[in-house]
Amino acid sequence: MCGILGYIGDRQATTVLLDGLRRLEYRGYDSSGMVVCAGGSFDLRRSVGKLSNLETLLQKKPLKGHVGLGHTRWATHGVPSEANAHPHADASGDIVVVHNGIIENYLSLKKALINKGFNFRSETDTEVAAHLVSSYWKALAKKNPKTKRDNFIKAVQLALKEIKGTYALGILCSSVPDLVIGARRDCPLIVGLGKGENFLASDVPAILSYTKEVIFLEEGDLVLLEKNRVVCLDENGKEIKRPTTQILWDPVQAEKAGYKHFMHKEIHEQPRAVEDTLMGRLHAKSGEIDLSETQISAQEARKISQIRFIGCGTSWHAGLVGSYLIEKYTGIPCVVDIASEFRYRDPLLKPNTLVVAISQSGETADTLAAVRLAKMKGAKTLTIANVVGSSLTREAHGTLLTHCGPEIGVASTKAFTGQLIVIYLLTLYLARLRKSVPRDQLMLLGQQLAHVSQWITETLKCEKVIVPIAKSYFRHGHFLFLGRNLNYPIALEGALKLKEISYIFAEGYPAGEMKHGPIALIDESMPLLAIVTQSQVYDKMLSNIEEARSRGADVIALATKGDNVIRDKAAHVIYVPNVPEDLSPLINVIPLQILAYHVAVLRGCDVDQPRNLAKSVTVE
Ligand code: AGP
Repeated sequence: MCGILGYIGDRQATTVLLDGLRRLEYRGYDSSGMVVCAGGSFDLRRSVGKLSNLETLLQKKPLKGHVGLGHTRWATHGVPSEANAHPHADASGDIVVVHNGIIENYLSLKKALINKGFNFRSETDTEVAAHLVSSYWKALAKKNPKTKRDNFIKAVQLALKEIKGTYALGILCSSVPDLVIGARRDCPLIVGLGKGENFLASDVPAILSYTKEVIFLEEGDLVLLEKNRVVCLDENGKEIKRPTTQILWDPVQAEKAGYKHFMHKEIHEQPRAVEDTLMGRLHAKSGEIDLSETQISAQEARKISQIRFIGCGTSWHAGLVGSYLIEKYTGIPCVVDIASEFRYRDPLLKPNTLVVAISQSGETADTLAAVRLAKMKGAKTLTIANVVGSSLTREAHGTLLTHCGPEIGVASTKAFTGQLIVIYLLTLYLARLRKSVPRDQLMLLGQQLAHVSQWITETLKCEKVIVPIAKSYFRHGHFLFLGRNLNYPIALEGALKLKEISYIFAEGYPAGEMKHGPIALIDESMPLLAIVTQSQVYDKMLSNIEEARSRGADVIALATKGDNVIRDKAAHVIYVPNVPEDLSPLINVIPLQILAYHVAVLRGCDVDQPRNLAKSVTVE
C-alpha cells in the first residue's frame, strides 16, 4: 500500500525523503512524488513507475528545502498517472497532502467542494482532503489572520471530522513552514524522533538509519512535528503523551546484506528468525515453555471451547497448520477462517471462543475487521504479528510477536516460519495449562522445537539441488503441489509462493482429493511437486504419486533423507532432514520457497515487488 514519509530538520529534505521512500518500496506502489517547502511556498515533483523515475526528475529539476513530504502511491482511485500521484495541493498552493487509505465519502465531499468553487485536478479520493483543509484554512484565516499556526491545526481537525474512511495523512501549509502535521485512522503512521529533526513515516525501516526512537500513533491521533518538538493530540484534540519505543532492529537488517533480493535474504534468515522467536519463551534443555505473555490463566485455558484462526494468504496457511496441532494436543476444536470471509458471514462464536488473528504486517484490513467483529461478539482475541505496535497488536486483547525482523519481500517467507513457531508454542502452552498432554511428552516436544533452527539451516543446503530443478521447469505454464494432513497447507503455501512471484498458475491440493477431479488435469506437461516426507500418510502419498505418474505426471518429490524408495517414483528428489512429523511443515516449506524464488528469477520477474501485489494490504 502507499508509503508516507515526512521530514523536518536541517538536512536537505529530498535526500531523506528519497532514501526513506526507497525503504518503503516493499509496500508496493505504482507512482511516487514529493513536495518541499521553502521560502513560504511549495514545489512538488511526481512521476509514474519506479522511484528511479522520480529521482531522474529531481536531478533535472531539483527541490531545495528542509521540510517536505514524500509518497509512494498504490492506486485505489484513478489510474497510476502523474496527475493522480501524491502529493496533492489545493489550487492556491496553501495546503498540500499525502495520504494512505481510502476516503469513503469522497464523492459527496467532492461535490460539496466543487459547489464552493474548488477545482479538482485528479481522480483521487485524496485530493478532497487538500481542498477540505484548504476551505477551513481560508475561512479561519479570514477571521483570525494572525494565528496562522493555530488556524492550520484547527483546519486539519475540522476537515478530519468530515472525512469518513481510513487514512494516514501528512499535511503541510505554506504559511506555516515550520510544522508538519500527521494524522492516522486505521492506517499505520509512526513518528521518528531525532535530534533537531523529526520524521513521519508509514513504517519503521524508512527512518531506521536516522533514528531508533519511535512513537506509534494511536487511532485518531494528530501529531505536530517541528524541528525540535513533537506534540501528539488525541481525537478530542487533547495533548497526550504517547510512549516512545526503542527499535532494536539493525538498519542493516532492513537492507539486502549482499543478496540480490530481499526474498532470498529472508529465506536464509529463517534459522535466526526461529531462534529469535523462541528466545525467552522456550528453555532449550528442559523443553519448558513460558507464554505467560498471552495472559491466559490455567482456568481460562481450561474453559476455551473453541479456537478460531483468522488470516489472509500465507498467514491463513499458518492457521491451517495450527488447526491440526491445536486439536491434536489441546483437545480444543479449531476452525480456520479466511479473514475476508469471516467478516461477512456472521460467524457463530460459542462462549469462551479464542480468536487468534495471524498477520505479518499487523495491518491487513480484512484481518483487522475480523478481529473487531470477533470482539463485538464477545470473543477473547489474540494477535500473532511481526510488526510491533501495528494496528492488530493494539486491537486484540493480547499479542504474541514473531521476532523475525522486517520482512521486505512481498512474498512472505520468514514471517511464515515465525508464525508457525508461535503457533507451536501456543499449542504446547495451552496443552500444559489444560494438562491435555503428559508432562514428559510436553518436555520432549519442547526440546524438539528447540532443534528447528538447526534443521532449517541443514535444509537450506538443498538450494544447490533445487537450482537445476528450477532450470528444468521455469518455462512451464502450470504446476501442481500435493500434500496431506499437516503438509496440505504447505502444498497450498508452495503453490501461492510460485504463483505470486513467478506468475505461473499453480494449485495446491490435498493429495487424497486428486481422484475427485483434479487428476483430469494430469498429463506429461504437468509438473507435480509431492510432499512425501516420512509421516503416517507416507504410504498414502506414495499411492497418490503412482496414480499421477501412471497418467504421465512429471514428479518432483520432497522426501526424507535416506528414503531410497522414492528415487524410482520421481523424476527429481529434494531431500530434507528427518524430523518429527508434527514439525515437518516448518522444514518442508523451505525448499518450496527456494524453488519459487529461483523459478521467478529465471523468468526475469520482479521477485521482491511482484506485479499487482502489496506487502501490506491496508484496504479491503
Ligand atoms: C504472502 O506471500 C502474501 N504476499 C500474502 O498472501 C500475505 O500473506 C497476506 O496478504 C497477509 O498479510 P499479513 O500477514 O501481513 O496479514
